[in-house]
Amino acid sequence: MSTENQPLSEGQYHRGGADDLRSPCPVVNSLANHGYIARDGRNITASKLKAALESIGLGFDTAGGLVKVAFQDHVDPPEGTPRSSANFGLRDAGQVNEDGEPVLNLDQLGRPHAIEHDVSVTRQDRELGDYIHLNPDLYQQFLTSSSNGESFSISDVGKLRKKRFDESKRDNPELELEKRMHYIACAEVGGLICVFGKGLYHVPKDYIQAIFGEERLPYAEGWQPRWTKVFLPEAGAVTLAISHYAWPF
Ligand code: HEM
Repeated sequence: MSTENQPLSEGQYHRGGADDLRSPCPVVNSLANHGYIARDGRNITASKLKAALESIGLGFDTAGGLVKVAFQDHVDPPEGTPRSSANFGLRDAGQVNEDGEPVLNLDQLGRPHAIEHDVSVTRQDRELGDYIHLNPDLYQQFLTSSSNGESFSISDVGKLRKKRFDESKRDNPELELEKRMHYIACAEVGGLICVFGKGLYHVPKDYIQAIFGEERLPYAEGWQPRWTKVFLPEAGAVTLAISHYAWPF
């Protein structure tokens, strides 16, 4: 992969091309666009993904837990039953690289009956359209949902998730969002708040534009990975606080 035939160095931003695989996760896509994981989105090992997550500020427990779950073999839930964490694995059985190490491709993050869910902030529900790529209208709605017009707080993202639920309930007769997936969805924005939030968990709007609009880590806007890593107790507490504002049941 090169720009004007110059090889890209690790960390340098270059948005993937049509042949590169990407996922519904803006943060994982950003890691690929900076070359912290394979730029083509293919054959990513667990150790590479974990190191990339730790490099942006996740603790060993949050990074390790996410990677462990994602690297399980995928198993569909029995027909008509809700998914459980046993179904969150993303790899095909026996999916390994030439050295025999388990690997994952980024498009597998969007596989049905695994982690991907309805009521995303910036992606449409599976029944309603493109559930992988950024939806321009939902993105604009996100950008205008800041209560102070400048940054996004825990209550802003929680209330936005509630609004997205109400919209899905109105528009999607096939809507599925069981409690487990509600908490997963709150944890996604919780991770965002923990990793990119300044001060008392406020993510500046220009960071959100970089991460979602360009799938780029917002170094140019002044972001740096935190000194203190995001460990599970903090991620859990922020997720519960978001869930308080987002609770749809
Ligand atoms: C192994 C690591 C990770 C995996 C496998 C993963 C997987 C996913 C998947 C499958 C989605 C799509 C869910 C959906 O909207 O249907 C998603 C969305 C998302 N992820 Fe990740 N993710 C990872 C790491 C992270 C981290 C570290 C963060 C934050 C720092 C993050 C933030 C988000 C956000 C904010 C969304 C929601 C996008 C939206 O609702 O529009 N993810 N992730």
